[in-house]
Amino acid sequence: MSELDRHDTIRAVHWRGDRLSLLDQRRLPFEETFIDCRSAAEVAQAIKDLVVRGAPAIGIAAAWGVVLAAQNDPLALDQATRTLRASRPTAVNLMWALDRMQGIGSDAAALVREAQAIQDEDLAANRRMGELGAALLDGGGVLTHCNTGSLATAGFGTALGVIRSGYAAGKISQVYAGETRPWLQGARLTMYELVRDAIPAKLIADSAAAHLMRSGAVQWVIVGADRIAANGDTANKIGTYQLAIAARHHGLKFMVVAPSSTVDMATVDGSAIDIELRDPQELLGIGGRRTVVDGAQAWNPVFDVTPASLIDAIVTERGVIHHPDRHAMQALFAPGHG
Ligand code: MRU
Repeated sequence: MSELDRHDTIRAVHWRGDRLSLLDQRRLPFEETFIDCRSAAEVAQAIKDLVVRGAPAIGIAAAWGVVLAAQNDPLALDQATRTLRASRPTAVNLMWALDRMQGIGSDAAALVREAQAIQDEDLAANRRMGELGAALLDGGGVLTHCNTGSLATAGFGTALGVIRSGYAAGKISQVYAGETRPWLQGARLTMYELVRDAIPAKLIADSAAAHLMRSGAVQWVIVGADRIAANGDTANKIGTYQLAIAARHHGLKFMVVAPSSTVDMATVDGSAIDIELRDPQELLGIGGRRTVVDGAQAWNPVFDVTPASLIDAIVTERGVIHHPDRHAMQALFAPGHG
């Protein structure tokens, strides 16, 4: 087993020929159970309920959802695709994968090949981004947010892939992960991946981030993305924006790691990105147990937009964009390019 493989042992999305098997991320880290989806509607529900989550993994699952629809009832393919498209609004990988599948038509065997290609290309992109991102690091500590690892992708991860590569190359000595309230992707999922894959990690409360930065223990903040607009503005898990502001204040570097399937050149800037609002109940309790007085209300946006001006580098499998802006994005992602 290579040094890198030793730090990359988890896979969450498995195609079984007649069903899609998803590691149920609602139950991690204490239960490793799989849910089988046998129709596009079941896949859409799994995406909505966060059984599968993370921008690339949502796209991959949706692609397999189209395959299930073609196998079950080719005449209902368009309706199934619409249902999948509506499952979550912010991560553009979902729409990107469905557009790709729609371009194939209705032949089930061809759709299987395309879904497999989407999954395989994602893993390859993550490995490449791992190398490119790790090359920017120069030792020390990093802070990450949410979960961008094997659970959120075909495997290896985006920001967590850079962390895997950086650690394997001796360029990271300590990882800090924010809890990521309210759904606790950092606490439940990122810590699970890092502990299991033997990468030294410490959990922090989201509210400890600025204090950590001032201590000098981290040199880079490394995050993923759900949608990168044409000017480099980046939507990612709620809390990312305040990390970028704090990083700039403390003179730390801020890296976004995402495959080209997360780039949306049709969205002019961050203000045009649809930010998902989820059920306030997610904020009014922890682990199903209510923590807030009855009668209280809550506001639960689950993504925010970090302006390009606060981002030092966007790492994609096509290359690294330093100091992203409209011009630099256009150079790498103009239609027809790549
Ligand atoms: O609500 P989630 O868990 O799907 O949000 C996930 C994130 O915000 C990730 O940072 C993003 O999708 C990148 S995953 C490689």
